[in-house]
Amino acid sequence: MPYSSSPPQIPTASRTPAPSTDEATQSIAILGLGAIGTLMAWHWREHVLYGITRDNSRCQRTLIDQQQTAHSLTLPTWQHEAIDWLVITTKASATLEALQSVANQLPQVQNILLLQNGMGQQQQVSDWLSQQQCSANLWAGISTEGAYRQNTEQVVYAGSGDTHIGLWQAQHPTASIPNGLTVVDDIQQRIRAKLAINAVINPLTAVFRCRNGELVSHDEYRQALKELATEVQQCFETLQQPLNFDLTERSLAVAEATAANQSSTLQDVLHQRPTELDYINGYLIRQAQQLNIELPLNRRLLAQLS
Ligand SMILES: NC(=O)c1ccc[n+]([C@@H]2O[C@H](COP(=O)([O-])OP(=O)(O)OC[C@H]3O[C@@H](n4cnc5c(N)ncnc54)[C@H](OP(=O)(O)O)[C@@H]3O)[C@@H](O)[C@H]2O)c1
Repeated sequence: MPYSSSPPQIPTASRTPAPSTDEATQSIAILGLGAIGTLMAWHWREHVLYGITRDNSRCQRTLIDQQQTAHSLTLPTWQHEAIDWLVITTKASATLEALQSVANQLPQVQNILLLQNGMGQQQQVSDWLSQQQCSANLWAGISTEGAYRQNTEQVVYAGSGDTHIGLWQAQHPTASIPNGLTVVDDIQQRIRAKLAINAVINPLTAVFRCRNGELVSHDEYRQALKELATEVQQCFETLQQPLNFDLTERSLAVAEATAANQSSTLQDVLHQRPTELDYINGYLIRQAQQLNIELPLNRRLLAQLS
């Protein structure tokens, strides 16, 4: 596996790299230059960056930061350069197809990071990479950063947050980490926790066409939240992956803390874009189905929003 020329490797005793930010220059290609992809490109502007678009066009983006300052970013198209990181920031449903579009270049990649919401795509990618005998490490990540696209080229940084990543499948025990990412040992648990909250807030806000806070303040919506949260919590217990928090309480707290926000699913519905629910509630339905368990509330919401 060819390495890029510069980055030193952090030696670690364990399988998981040390949870540190590495200031050394990394070479990173970003596949999916939408809201989060563009924001990460801006965070990583000191690294050697490449972009990948569907049509191999030049990646010209503008990031408007939280002080309303516009920053212009131009990323050369990734061709055959050896890179430390291939970061996929498409929507969950586009992940495998996007990765397959660069299949020929994967021998040049040291680490692949899926930085998305939802579940199901990580295992799809892992299975496919195994078939390809790809030797890159597979990482998964979740972010509480907030960004949205004003148009194809302009992205607004709406709210700062944290980005956690962890190994999904490792071929090599070491890696240098791009700045701003925190390495954790329990990424699957964290992704599940985020998925559980998204499985409650996202479909309900989309069905009721309401902002997050109305799930708390509106009696009928609050009741629906409690019922859905109970079904999702029980689902994780049945799957023998119990959440270590009360999902009703956590969902109410998150909805209250983000009261003025429109969930990404509501935004997708309002803009008539496909939602990611098939990788959130749909994922839970498929997992439960394997144990002959039905999730009627999840299924009804998914049907209403399909
Ligand atoms: N936005 C946020 O604040 C936020 C926060 C946390 C997590 N997330 C998660 O991050 C992921 C991405 O969300 P997002 O809001 O950034 O979505 P987005 O703005 O729709 O960006 C996705 C990008 O991927 C591109 N894409 C799709 N398929 C591709 C392919 N085959 N080749 C190259 N590019 C491809 C899309 O291009 P087209 O425009 O041509 O389709 C688009 O630019 C989602 O899982 C989301 O849940 C988002």
